[in-house]
Amino acid sequence: MTSPAPAPAAKPIPFIDLQAQRARLGERIEAAMRKVLAHGGFVMGPEVAELEKRLAAHCGARFVLSCSSGTDALLIPLMARGVGHGDAVFVPSFTFTATAEVAALAGATPVFVDVAPDTFNMDPDSLTRAIATARRLGLKPRCAIPVDLFGQPADMDDINAVCAAAGVWVLADAAQSYGATYKTRRVGTLAAATGTSFYPSKPLGAYGDGGAVFTDDEELYRRMTQVRVHGQGRDRNENVCIGLTGRLDTLQAAVLLEKLTVFDEECAARRRIAARYDALLQGAVVTPAVRADRSSVWAQYTVQSPARDRIVATLAAENIPTSVFYPRPIHTQPAYRMFPVAEGGLPATEALARTVVSLPMHAYLADDDQERIAAAVRRAAA
Ligand SMILES: Cc1ncc(COP(=O)(O)O)c(C=O)c1O
Repeated sequence: MTSPAPAPAAKPIPFIDLQAQRARLGERIEAAMRKVLAHGGFVMGPEVAELEKRLAAHCGARFVLSCSSGTDALLIPLMARGVGHGDAVFVPSFTFTATAEVAALAGATPVFVDVAPDTFNMDPDSLTRAIATARRLGLKPRCAIPVDLFGQPADMDDINAVCAAAGVWVLADAAQSYGATYKTRRVGTLAAATGTSFYPSKPLGAYGDGGAVFTDDEELYRRMTQVRVHGQGRDRNENVCIGLTGRLDTLQAAVLLEKLTVFDEECAARRRIAARYDALLQGAVVTPAVRADRSSVWAQYTVQSPARDRIVATLAAENIPTSVFYPRPIHTQPAYRMFPVAEGGLPATEALARTVVSLPMHAYLADDDQERIAAAVRRAAA
């Protein structure tokens, strides 16, 4: 007797489908890149200034400084403000490493803050406790870096108010949220300075590394332009401060200029896809909460479930990738264990690390693929 033929493997679904976007924009992007190859201004070519101008018009910030990565988009403002030894920088632990890394790179002490369990963003009450913790440890409360996790702006009015009362400067980590809105304003204008990332998988992604800092503060902008290029003063023979090789490549600026032309449309598609996930997954898992006064750009669509590991395994067996952001909070990592955490600990962070899972999400996700993903999640979570 012959055994039945195995079921054909289900078609793989990409986690983020950059090729779908390339099919739409590829010709235009390649023409823009050829233009850069022809003019040869690979470093600080005309496309860089043009991108900065377009981004300023897009989000409403007075000044935009493009730079080499989202990490440098946080490090450059810290260096320009002189944040360093003896200073406390308040960061969530439930985020990508770079948020805490830049505090340590600047020579300051990262102090870890808990997040709200439903939005994943910095909890202003935990921030208040962290400021008290820092003072008790003899550190100067200097800067807070709230993160707009998975694309939704943090509680910026509350965080700005806590920080203003404590004399703490606010640098928003918008690596995942460029394009989102908070009340009547766009990300890029919600804090004294904002850093974003153009890493390829971000909602506005380049074809390599890149980032930008947004601010309305002219003096900060001036100092950041110096830090971006080795602390250069009036010319290349004058160094007025310690700096970096922090520039955005012209080729990446050319790519981003093309992608920016369809970006708002892509953000709207992401919002439609997220709403559809909400409906398809209702009751099976905890779907992400977005506050009524803001919008997300859905860098990730992240659900919570006690059956998280079964969901990951079931979807993997059906050729559907998932990602866990973040299974190991930063304050538990070997490189960061010695840094302080807010009084009261980080219970929400530690619980989320055990239950979150992110599903495939991009502006070109097809309805039938999304139905297949949701059906697999429902089966695994049942
Ligand atoms: C929250 C957050 N901050 C900072 C960064 C750093 O950005 P980049 O990878 O462009 O250096 C990232 C990138 O993944 C991020 O997600």
